[in-house]
Amino acid sequence: MTDKNHSEVYLLSPLPFQGQKRAFVKQFREALTEYVSAKPIHTVVDLFGGSGLLSHTAKRMYPGLNVIYNDYDDFHVRIENIPRTNEIFARIRPILKGTPDKTRLSDKLKGEILKVIREYDEAGFVDYITLSASLLFSSHYVTNWTELEKESFYNRVRQTPVCADGYLDGLVIVKHDYFKLFSLYKHDPGVLFLVDPPYLSTDIKSYRSVEYWRIRDYMNVLLVLKSNYIFFTSEKSQLVDLCEWLADNPDFKNPFRNAVLKTTRNRVNYSASYQDMMLYNIGK
Ligand SMILES: C[S@@+](CC[C@H](N)C(=O)[O-])C[C@H]1O[C@@H](n2cnc3c(N)ncnc32)[C@H](O)[C@@H]1O
Repeated sequence: MTDKNHSEVYLLSPLPFQGQKRAFVKQFREALTEYVSAKPIHTVVDLFGGSGLLSHTAKRMYPGLNVIYNDYDDFHVRIENIPRTNEIFARIRPILKGTPDKTRLSDKLKGEILKVIREYDEAGFVDYITLSASLLFSSHYVTNWTELEKESFYNRVRQTPVCADGYLDGLVIVKHDYFKLFSLYKHDPGVLFLVDPPYLSTDIKSYRSVEYWRIRDYMNVLLVLKSNYIFFTSEKSQLVDLCEWLADNPDFKNPFRNAVLKTTRNRVNYSASYQDMMLYNIGK
């Protein structure tokens, strides 16, 4: 699809990105139109930019808007390296000639592919997330060579080169913790914040800079919702429920403030464990 300036309009991220808002593009466009018609918005700040899909959509719809894309994961580096990624695919395709789609690869074929990837790894950047989408079981992602080597390989290799021409055009690319970026713009009523944080406790391994988002991190994000915002969440987070409950109980105070805490650790398997807690308020 192209817009009236003949620029390509992407309806999904040109490279795989976990959590991209492709399913929301249509509704996001409608929300943005409502915002821009109702308020004098001159700048959009995409606090959790991810694949840049929301920033891209906003810029293509309103080229006059100043759109700040917070590229916390250095997604633009993946975009810049597309020619290199295409080169790797071009060398892998002949190795897989005659191998049916989606089948598991023999150790021999896996070895040949790893040899090609190793060569690129030793020479510079490799987009492991894009390679994962083509070589690993559906939704499995790795971010480096050591992890890739351990995985089983499947033939899911794309047949056409990746293209992202113009995708980031016109965006101001920055990289900050979202709260710092928010602080820079929070006093300007002409700014609209796009707020799409990582989902609570979900597997976010493919986000390069993130370990785990806990409820406290998530609650902190609520502090940015005092300004103009378009916010994304999931019913799994139950955040909207929690906020409604807090509003219904305005006198609520932390019942654990002076409580004594005792813990036990429970092992789920060799690599995972969690803590159970007991708290009691003896009146200290
Ligand atoms: C759900 S994704 C955003 C997806 C994006 N809207 C899209 O359509 O591609 C959340 C993003 O927030 C980033 N992130 C995590 N912690 C952050 C922080 N402290 N500041 C800014 N971004 C952060 C993650 O790395 C991830 O890219």
